[in-house]
Amino acid sequence: MKRISSYVIIFTSFIILSALITFIGCEGPQGPEGPMGLSADPNPGQCGTCHNVSTVILAKQIQYQESGHAQGEAYLRSTSAGCAPCHSNEGFRMKIAGEEVVGIDNPTPQNCRTCHNIHTNFTQDDFMLSTTLPVELTGIMYNGDVVDFGAGNLCANCHQSRPRDGLVLGGDDVKIDSAHWGPHHGTQSNILAGSGGFELAGPVEYLDSGHTKGVADGCVACHLSSHSLVPNVKSCEACHPGIKDFDYEGVQSEVTALLDELEDILIEAGLLSEKGDLGTVSGVTVSSTKAGALLNYLMVAEDGSHGVHNANYTKALLKNSIAAF
Ligand code: HEC
Ligand code: HEC
Ligand code: HEC
Ligand code: HEC
Ligand code: HEC
Ligand code: HEC
Repeated sequence: MKRISSYVIIFTSFIILSALITFIGCEGPQGPEGPMGLSADPNPGQCGTCHNVSTVILAKQIQYQESGHAQGEAYLRSTSAGCAPCHSNEGFRMKIAGEEVVGIDNPTPQNCRTCHNIHTNFTQDDFMLSTTLPVELTGIMYNGDVVDFGAGNLCANCHQSRPRDGLVLGGDDVKIDSAHWGPHHGTQSNILAGSGGFELAGPVEYLDSGHTKGVADGCVACHLSSHSLVPNVKSCEACHPGIKDFDYEGVQSEVTALLDELEDILIEAGLLSEKGDLGTVSGVTVSSTKAGALLNYLMVAEDGSHGVHNANYTKALLKNSIAAF
C-alpha cells in the first residue's frame, strides 16, 4: 500500500505540473512540436485511460504484490553481471536490447517495465510484452535448443537451467565440486520443452506431454490468469473439462512419490546432503550415470510443478534415474 500511495502522490504532482506548464504555455509564443512522450502534450485525458480508478493498473499492481517476483529477494544478487540479466529489471532490459549486461548497483526486481513497454506511446500498445522472441536454451546437454512458447518466451529468457560442462552420457567420472552443483533454480522451460535432462537409458521412453507444443503461449496460458503469477485451475478447464485440482490423473502425487524415492537413494549414495534440502555433497567423484541421476532429481525438484509442466518427460527422467542405481 505504501508504494501505491507514493505513486498517487507522484502522479498527482505530475498532473498539477502538467496543468501549470499548459497554463504558462498559453501566454508565450508557440514553441516547436516536442517529441511524443511526457514532455510533448501530457494530456490528462490521455493519461486517464490507464491512470483512473478502474482495474487497468491498480488490480495488476495489487495482484503483483503477491507474486514471487515482488516478494522475493533474488534481485539483490544483481550486482554481479552474471546474475543481473535474470535477477533484475535493469539487467533484463539490457539483455533484450542486445546490450552488454553489467552488474547493477541499485537493482529493482521484475516489475511492470520488465515485461511491458510502459510509457512508450501512451496507448494500449504500451502493454505489449517487452519480448516474445523464441529463446535459445543454454541447457545442460542440449546447448542450442530453441524453444518457442509464444508469449511465454518472455518467461523462458529467465526460467531456464544453466550449462554444465563435463557431464556426458557414458562419459568420464564427474567431480561434484560445490554444494550447489547442478542446474539453476528455474528449470521450467527445459522441463516444458523436454530439453536438458540427462536422458539415461532405462525402462521408460522419453516422450513429451501435450503441454510441450499443445498450449499456445506456454507459461502465460496457465500462470497469467492473475498477475500474482500463481496458476489457477480455471485456466486448465478449457482443455481438461471437470478438472478439480492440479493433481490431474494423479500425476503430481506420482511425481512427488518418485522424487521422494530418488531423494532417499541419492542421500544413501552420499550425493545429496539431507532430506528436504537440495544441497549436494561437495567433493565426491562419481560415474557420469550417478551424477546424471542427481542432475535429473534437481531438474525436476527445482521445476516445482510436480509433473504438470511435462508429465511424460518428468516421469521418464525420474524412473530411469531410479533404475540406474
Ligand atoms: C497505456 C497506459 C498508460 C498511460 C496512457 C499512461 N501511463 Fe503512467 N503508468 C502506466 C503504468 C503501467 C505505470 C507503472 C505502474 C507501476 O509501476 O506500478 C505508470 C506509472 C506512472 C507514474 C509513476 C512513476 C513511474 O514512472 O512509474 C507516473 C507519474 C505516471 N505513470 C504518469 C503518467 C502521465 C502523466 C501520463 C499521461 C501523459 C501517463 N502516465 C499515461 C501506464 C500508463
Ligand atoms: C527477468 C527474469 C524473469 C522473467 C522475465 C520472469 N521471471 Fe519469474 N522469476 C524470476 C526470478 C529471479 C524469480 C525468483 C524471485 C525471488 O525469489 O526473489 C522468479 C520467480 C517466479 C515465480 C515464483 C516461484 C516460487 O518458487 O515461488 C513464478 C511463479 C514465476 N517467476 C513465473 C514467471 C512467469 C509465468 C513469467 C513470464 C510471464 C516470469 N516468471 C518471467 C525471473 C524472471
Ligand atoms: C538464466 C537466468 C538466470 C541467471 C543468469 C541466474 N539466475 Fe538465479 N534464478 C533464476 C530464476 C528464474 C530463479 C527462480 C526460480 C524459481 O523460483 O523457480 C532463480 C533463483 C535463484 C536463487 C533462489 C532464490 C533466492 O534468492 O534464494 C538463487 C540463490 C539464485 N537464483 C542465485 C543466482 C546467482 C548467484 C546468479 C549469478 C551467479 C544467478 N542466480 C543467475 C534465473 C537465473
Ligand atoms: C513477469 C512479467 C509481467 C509483469 C512483471 C507484469 N506483467 Fe502485465 N502482463 C504480462 C503478461 C504475460 C500479460 C498477458 C499478455 C498476453 O496475454 O499476451 C500481461 C497483461 C497485462 C495487461 C492486460 C493487457 C491487455 O492487452 O489486456 C495489463 C493492463 C497489464 N499486464 C499491466 C501490468 C502492470 C500494471 C504491471 C505492474 C504492476 C504488470 N502488468 C506487470 C506479464 C507481466
Ligand atoms: C499447463 C499449464 C502450465 C504451463 C504451460 C506452465 N505452468 Fe508452471 N506450473 C503450473 C502448475 C499447475 C504448477 C504447480 C502449482 C502447484 O502445484 O501449486 C506450476 C509450477 C510452476 C512454478 C513453481 C511455483 C512454485 O510456487 O514453486 C514455476 C516457477 C512455474 N510453474 C513457472 C512456469 C514457467 C516459467 C513456464 C513456462 C516455461 C510454465 N510455468 C508453464 C502450470 C503450468
Ligand atoms: C491448451 C490446452 C491445455 C491446457 C490449458 C492445460 N492442459 Fe494439461 N494437457 C493438455 C494436453 C493436450 C495433454 C495431453 C493429453 C492428455 O493427457 O489429456 C495434457 C496433459 C496433462 C497432464 C498429463 C496427464 C497424464 O496422464 O499424463 C496433466 C497432469 C495436465 N495436463 C494437467 C494440467 C493442468 C493442472 C492444467 C492447468 C494448470 C492444464 N493441464 C492445462 C492440454 C492442456
